[in-house]
Amino acid sequence: MNPTWGDGTRSVRAGEADPVPGAPLRPSPVFAAPFHLGDQPPRAAGADAYARTEHPTLRDFEGAVGELDGGRCLSFATGMAALTAAVLACAGTGDRVVLPSDGYYTTRLLAAQELERFGIVVQYVSTPDIEAFATGGGLDGVRLVLLETPSNPQLDVCDIAAVTRAARATGTLVAVDNTTATPLGQRPLALGAAMTVGSDTKALTGHSDLLLGHVSTTDDELYARLQGWRNHSGSTPGPFEAWLGHRSMSTLDLRLARQAANAAAVAELLAASPVVTGVRWPWRAGDPSSALAARQMLRPNGVVSAELADEAAVARLLATSRLWTAATSFGGVHSTIDRRAQWGGDAVAPGFVRLSCGIEDTADLVEDLSAALAALS
Ligand SMILES: Cc1ncc(COP(=O)(O)O)c(C=O)c1O
Repeated sequence: MNPTWGDGTRSVRAGEADPVPGAPLRPSPVFAAPFHLGDQPPRAAGADAYARTEHPTLRDFEGAVGELDGGRCLSFATGMAALTAAVLACAGTGDRVVLPSDGYYTTRLLAAQELERFGIVVQYVSTPDIEAFATGGGLDGVRLVLLETPSNPQLDVCDIAAVTRAARATGTLVAVDNTTATPLGQRPLALGAAMTVGSDTKALTGHSDLLLGHVSTTDDELYARLQGWRNHSGSTPGPFEAWLGHRSMSTLDLRLARQAANAAAVAELLAASPVVTGVRWPWRAGDPSSALAARQMLRPNGVVSAELADEAAVARLLATSRLWTAATSFGGVHSTIDRRAQWGGDAVAPGFVRLSCGIEDTADLVEDLSAALAALS
């Protein structure tokens, strides 16, 4: 891919092969579990044999995501499957792993209920504290540190390059959960991380209709271990998901642009409201993450967090609004609000909400939210 192309071109053209006369512009999904072997040994000359380990639609999708990430991509059935692979491809019994204490809560559940059972020693450090922890020698003896930046749901940002520099000195691998940023918004591999991981259920595919995840790396040995883990554990996406993921990511640049414009307006509206406190959006002037986000990230996205008085206030806001839907997840074309305390995993107040700005018209979203906020005062 031409390195000077912009995000719109990259979103559409990433991973594309040279045009073949008579072929469709984007390859159609190949629906197959086993493939003909004929009289050849399995996988002779790179032929496909069985879709849990390889299929053409997966290769097309992985080629595209890997080009955006600047590495080799392996796609997984969900973001959690990708995170599990990132940890278990490099850590085993007795290894120490550092996870974000303030990141996506299911990652902590994975650690507490699964990884620790197998003797992996897990330590938790918050996103605002991880740089000081790493540069202060905290990674000594640590096999893997996972960063999540911006963190979900509180949207704190940490310095990936500073942590990877410290990690190099202790031989610690750095993985970054890049879900909130997306591969267009941040390139952890270029900042020194060994792996970038994403829940592609979110903005990368962005239509709230499929589950996917991925890990990309530039390290061939890590790639082989991740691939082995995926093929043996069987967390490979099938052809329909891979094709739909590839089709959906073509519009990533357009969707992110509208979502970010909506988030900028929504963050200002929330900050001006007397019934809202603690508005966070890393690109809003004065946000604790804004200086680092501007330096490290390539572009903004549509996820905003804020706090209302209590659970009842959130319920009233949602009941009054016509465009803001109660739903979890984020990064889709619909604007949604998620009261995080209802899931029980995040250390947040009962009225804390994560807003995911969709691609509706900014004026409509602002008018609708403003009326719903006014009804609370
Ligand atoms: C930051 C982050 N990482 C990982 C995941 C897990 O992704 P999935 O739901 O696709 O398994 C999520 C899901 O919300 C997330 O927000």
